[in-house]
Amino acid sequence: MKSDNYNLKIAVQKSGRIADKSFALLRDIGLNFEISDRSLFTKCENFPLEIMLVRDDDIPEMVELGVVDLGIVGENIILELNKNIIRLKALNFGKCKFVIAVPNESGINRIEDLNGKKIATSYPFQTKQFFESRNVKVEIIVINGAVEITPLLNMADAIADLSSSGSTLKMHELREIEEVFKSEVKLISNPNSLTNGRKKLIDKLLLRIDSLLCAKKNKYVMMNLPEQSLPKISELIPGITSPTIMPLNRKGYVALHSVVAEEVFWDTIEKLKELGATGILVSPIEKMVV
Ligand code: PRP
Ligand code: ZN
Repeated sequence: MKSDNYNLKIAVQKSGRIADKSFALLRDIGLNFEISDRSLFTKCENFPLEIMLVRDDDIPEMVELGVVDLGIVGENIILELNKNIIRLKALNFGKCKFVIAVPNESGINRIEDLNGKKIATSYPFQTKQFFESRNVKVEIIVINGAVEITPLLNMADAIADLSSSGSTLKMHELREIEEVFKSEVKLISNPNSLTNGRKKLIDKLLLRIDSLLCAKKNKYVMMNLPEQSLPKISELIPGITSPTIMPLNRKGYVALHSVVAEEVFWDTIEKLKELGATGILVSPIEKMVV
């Protein structure tokens, strides 16, 4: 297969929880494509990539079979379907956890209390594995959605399901008794796609994804500060690159530009103010290649 005329194929959820964010990610890495209402396939205008729009449950199998090279899908589905695929990258969205939950009023507090009980879930494989690993015998009731309603209908004593904001559990008067695993959306690939020309194209996409994810994790910060506090401030913001320092008209003051990690952002800003920084401006970073 010649590398220069091969189109990579990626499977993406057509509609549902992760569809829009998956499209947004592809667009944010510079790919142009149109999605029309009922179309199940679209082609990138500026990259050799074809996008298949499918149900997310079908993505791991399509990737395993090699009918597509890549897929964007939640770890929950990857674990449940247990296919032979490679996880290339966590994409930092669709974060949730798979939990065991029981009605608020029930006396059940520990997994062991569920011995002999009924558990409703859309994830029978994960649920079976989890209870087996804890040596607790349960009856698994498979239901395809709206699992939270089953305790109300006396169909089950507990549920095993995803929780993100926690509002669905709360709304149905359920409480979590244990977290089984955490999940987020991943880019997956078929092992055979990681060779030759396809690998080159996949690496190009990965570089773009890395620069986008890295940019999202950081902010660009600009400020004025007394020259004398420079040593302390440089310590505070080591930055990805060392900070840029420029003279100002105002005597004894300089301007400093730097990259600050989002997770330590508020902490850092407070400390900067204490050290005399003024006129602090913060901007998002669009792409960051390190
Ligand atoms: C998912 C999941 C939970 C809910 C969790 O269901 O199965 O029910 O979202 O989200 P929250 O903690 O933010 O409330 P989804 O809405 O996809 O519907 P379904 O289970 O009926 O498919
Ligand atoms: Zn649900």
